Amino acid sequence: MEIFDMREFDGHELVVFGHDASAGMRAIIAIHSTALGPAAGGCRMWPYATTAEAMADVLRLSRGMSYKNAMAELPFGGGKAVIIGDSRKAKTAELFEAFGRLVDSLGGRYVTAEDVGTTTADMSNVARATRYVAAPGQAGGDPAPKTALGVYLGIRAAVKFRLGRADLKGVTVAVQGLGGVGRHLCGLLAADGAELFVADVHPAAVERVREQFKARRVPVEELLALDVDVLCPCALGAVLNSRSIPRLRARIVAGAANNQLAQDEDGAALQAAGILYAPDYVINAGGIISVSREYHGGASEAQVIADIQAIPARLTEIFERARRENRATNQIADQMARERLSKPARALVA
Ligand code: NAI
Repeated sequence: MEIFDMREFDGHELVVFGHDASAGMRAIIAIHSTALGPAAGGCRMWPYATTAEAMADVLRLSRGMSYKNAMAELPFGGGKAVIIGDSRKAKTAELFEAFGRLVDSLGGRYVTAEDVGTTTADMSNVARATRYVAAPGQAGGDPAPKTALGVYLGIRAAVKFRLGRADLKGVTVAVQGLGGVGRHLCGLLAADGAELFVADVHPAAVERVREQFKARRVPVEELLALDVDVLCPCALGAVLNSRSIPRLRARIVAGAANNQLAQDEDGAALQAAGILYAPDYVINAGGIISVSREYHGGASEAQVIADIQAIPARLTEIFERARRENRATNQIADQMARERLSKPARALVA
């Protein structure tokens, strides 16, 4: 495997393979950048078929965290870890403690957290071996409402930019996924007068939102193609792809889901279709803003809210620059993130 030549490698500072035979732990930690602070990003547990697949995933996710943290103006760089294994069968306290020792051996260059396949309970086992772990569920609560607030403010900014409307009264929004983020978001949108169309694979989740916020239920397979002002993906990644984009009729796509674009080129396809896309890692940063403040301790709720309120201005800057340069918004966001990473850090917080 030519790791340095992989497309995903993209200038990573450090990649570490960890192995503990007695605990059955095989993990990779990738540190993309510590230019702005210690590399922060979650630990994913997944039954990768090959090491090459695990490597490509950890590198892609790690770079993504660099961009996300840089754009949220957090004192963190970007990193990510993957544990190779089936989270339904292979989890033990010893495995996560061994992973904690691996994290600790990096002396604070990488800070881990829960991710797909890992939980806050797993992170407390990690915490037995290292202090470089943030467990949001334990430290101060669920980040989903904070993510929802950022997405709501981001939708307002996109509606103002694309539709010239100062509020959401009568604006139609289709929300895909009514979990922690989607449900809170529906509350904020409804309170602002938006008309909601919702879908979720769990009927109970739809029922709750339908009753509470007078949302209209739409079959899951029809939601993406609704003729609405805003399409708001809050469920899965890769929903914006070469098959779905030609079917979209929304004027704006702005939602919480991570990695909404199947490929970078899909951003250009949205631009060509006249659809304004709010780059996912910029609009969904409310959760990471809240978690990172908790990790450093001492930040008031008001400070966290103030940081989240900076999201709409950041998006508007991206929208304006994309229009000026006639480029896709995801390209502009990536470029802005890279510009921030190449500037010297204001303060390194260990
Ligand atoms: P969640 O797991 O609580 O909710 C996801 C919801 O989507 C579930 O109700 C699920 O039934 C539904 N769903 C799954 N497949 C679907 C489909 N094909 N069509 C319609 N609905 C479907 O997750 P959460 O926390 O609400 O996050 C939503 C998205 O936002 C995820 O992509 C997540 O990675 C991302 N995100 C979440 C953050 C947070 O603070 N929780 C922070 C940043 C991003």
